[in-house]
Amino acid sequence: MEKNVYIETYGCQMNFADSEIVGAILTKEQFTITKEVSEADYILINTCAIRDNAEQRIRKRLHELKALQRQRPWVRIGILGCMAERLKTKLIEEEENVSFIVGPDSYRKLPDMLEHIHDGEKLSETLLSEVETYADIEPVRFDTNGITAYISIMRGCQNFCAYCVVPYTRGRERSRDPETIVNEARTLFEQGFREVTLLGQNVNSYRWDDGKASVGFPELMSMVAQVSPLLRVRFATSHPKDLSDELLKVMAKHDNICKCIHLPVQSGSDRMLKLMNRRYTSEWYLDRIAAIRRYLPDCSITTDVIAGFCSETEEDHESTLEMFRKVRYDYAYMFKFSMRPNTYAEKHMTDDIPDEVKTRRLEEIIALQGQIALENNQKEIGKIYEVLIEGTSHRSADQLFGRNSQNKVIVFDKGSRKPGEYTYVRVLRCTSATLIGEEIDNK
Ligand code: SAH
Ligand code: SF4
Ligand code: F3S
Repeated sequence: MEKNVYIETYGCQMNFADSEIVGAILTKEQFTITKEVSEADYILINTCAIRDNAEQRIRKRLHELKALQRQRPWVRIGILGCMAERLKTKLIEEEENVSFIVGPDSYRKLPDMLEHIHDGEKLSETLLSEVETYADIEPVRFDTNGITAYISIMRGCQNFCAYCVVPYTRGRERSRDPETIVNEARTLFEQGFREVTLLGQNVNSYRWDDGKASVGFPELMSMVAQVSPLLRVRFATSHPKDLSDELLKVMAKHDNICKCIHLPVQSGSDRMLKLMNRRYTSEWYLDRIAAIRRYLPDCSITTDVIAGFCSETEEDHESTLEMFRKVRYDYAYMFKFSMRPNTYAEKHMTDDIPDEVKTRRLEEIIALQGQIALENNQKEIGKIYEVLIEGTSHRSADQLFGRNSQNKVIVFDKGSRKPGEYTYVRVLRCTSATLIGEEIDNK
């Protein structure tokens, strides 16, 4: 009999891409993906372990699901992803309503596991692989707008930034066969998708060698860009230490490669960057920003930053604010440092910045960035952008929203064009997060 599986995803884009791989693995067997948790026979929670609050959120969710399990006592809950990998069987011991855990490299085992779970029995698969890329699996896009999609191009990370759990939860870095990536992009395009985002923790270290050919990230980007001029290509994330001029040249050459680079800075202080094991200096980072501006004058730049890493002084924090003033990011993901078990920082450093100091520093970064984002957006007023329409605005059924190449969201009144189509929009007004414009019929 067909069994319903409900998949809930937390964490980064890579987890969302993984859930689609899980969907594909399960629907090849006797399982159906349901969008209604109330219809589920199995609930899979794809988890994130990046900060303590990410894990707390999942524990809270598990608690909530107990009510549903009382009504449907046969429902089995499984934990997937980074928290499963980090905590392994400990998670089964600590959370009574979890029946099985599956790490990021063991998803092929899921159909078998679901079949063999019955009363009382608990299963776990958390072996990490040096080769698994799920290259042959065509993801099932079960929660999609039909226009934009993620493609995983590599897995794992071995940069070992001192604060980060990812190398422990995702294992060794490995790249996926470029042919399968291009084929996936082509299939998506044929299905009507108009934008793909190539994903990896550090896409700049993508490398495929099969004896015949050696393909690096710039070549891969150029291959995917050639699928169709109507298919936009984005990518995330770039590690600053590896961002090459060659990639910037490829981006400049193809109009359909979006002009937006996510370049996590983490801190503006050289002392912090060294302690974090980021392997670049603020000078190197600013040189990379200058290179982006040189090759791609209209490129937007976004970042990640951590406030209150071990031993961070007011002076270090000031260097971060200074970095933000110099670069003038279009968007930033800003976090308070959270000490993660078993990382280098946890073993060798002290989480010595009081929470209220972390909070204050974070708020200062957020306030500065809010001001910069608003000023950047104000400079967009009057400009005309090509926009890929993604859907109806959340605020009003009479408005559509889409993004420009720079990944900025633009809202405008409904006209003749539909989601999935390109149009031109003139920017009229803005907030720090959104541009508001009018559709232009003939550019
Ligand atoms: N691979 C990407 C980042 C992946 S994690 C890169 O190297 O840039 C996403 C972001 O979470 C990181 O960029 C960092 O800013 C933040 N982060 C990671 N570990 C953290 C921790 N222990 N505490 C707070 N933020 C953290
Ligand atoms: Fe974590 Fe650093 Fe790897 Fe990014 S590059 S995932 S921050 S270890
Ligand atoms: Fe979280 Fe794992 Fe992504 S820890 S950020 S889900 S790689």
